[in-house]
Amino acid sequence: MTDYPVDLSIAPEVEAFFDEATNTISYVVRDPASTSCAVVDSVMDIDYAAGRITYGHADAMIDFIKQRGLTLEWIIETHVHADHLSAAPYIQGKLGGKIGIGSKIMVVQDTFGKIFNEGTEFQRDGSQFDRLFEDGDTYHVGKMQAFAMATPGHTPACMVHVMGNAAFVGDTLFMPDGGSARTDFPGGDAGELYDSIQKVLALPDDMRLFMCHDYGPNGRDIQWETTVGDEKAHNIHVGGGKTKADFVKFRTERDATLAMPKLIIPSLQVNMRAGEVPRDKDGNPMLKVPVNGL
Ligand SMILES: [Fe+2]
Repeated sequence: MTDYPVDLSIAPEVEAFFDEATNTISYVVRDPASTSCAVVDSVMDIDYAAGRITYGHADAMIDFIKQRGLTLEWIIETHVHADHLSAAPYIQGKLGGKIGIGSKIMVVQDTFGKIFNEGTEFQRDGSQFDRLFEDGDTYHVGKMQAFAMATPGHTPACMVHVMGNAAFVGDTLFMPDGGSARTDFPGGDAGELYDSIQKVLALPDDMRLFMCHDYGPNGRDIQWETTVGDEKAHNIHVGGGKTKADFVKFRTERDATLAMPKLIIPSLQVNMRAGEVPRDKDGNPMLKVPVNGL
């Protein structure tokens, strides 16, 4: 197993931005020793029925960063999201910073390039992103060292990003009472997700974990922060030492009952392009719907 450079002595400030339309939590993460920051999993607003894109959620993050005089160095995507559109290029256009995702994005681009029948102009080499992370790769947000852990299962390109004592888990884990993410999208694998979750749970018990989603199960208020120790003890899908076989059986049966996310069709087309809306032959932004293709 990769030896990850964990450093719990660094405690970044983490500001969460909850998107009610998609139950996504985006983050601004600030290096405590400088004015540098990173954005994790931003959201671009879409009224899909109207084909209208707006930027209220992203603008709130941009205002926050500007008001504090911070420098944006990284715009991190934990994976190609299927339930919301990324605002990474919009934020980069306003504040700079490099857009990064896991190198297995190429697998995702190949899969969905076929499903959406993209032409040869759609590059499947990850070149739409500024940085493709491999398992264990490190980078810096100001003076703070960060690293990426490959955590496939929900999708092939999923990664958990760890910055000091804060880990951004994407769609590996949900809050303990929410369990885990589905694994039935193309390229998903329940057994792989179980193994990836074990990697996250092998981090120190005090590591703070920040969720990408929360749906407030059983009527509780929305939450997004927990710890490794809490997940190990209480996660309803993998906590308390549940076995891989139990998890795979449960996850597979559960996934068979789930409807597709409302925004999966626009999300995939945009997010596999690092947040850029595809264009038609005349250069106009345009989305497709592959009928019975998903
Ligand atoms: Fe996801």
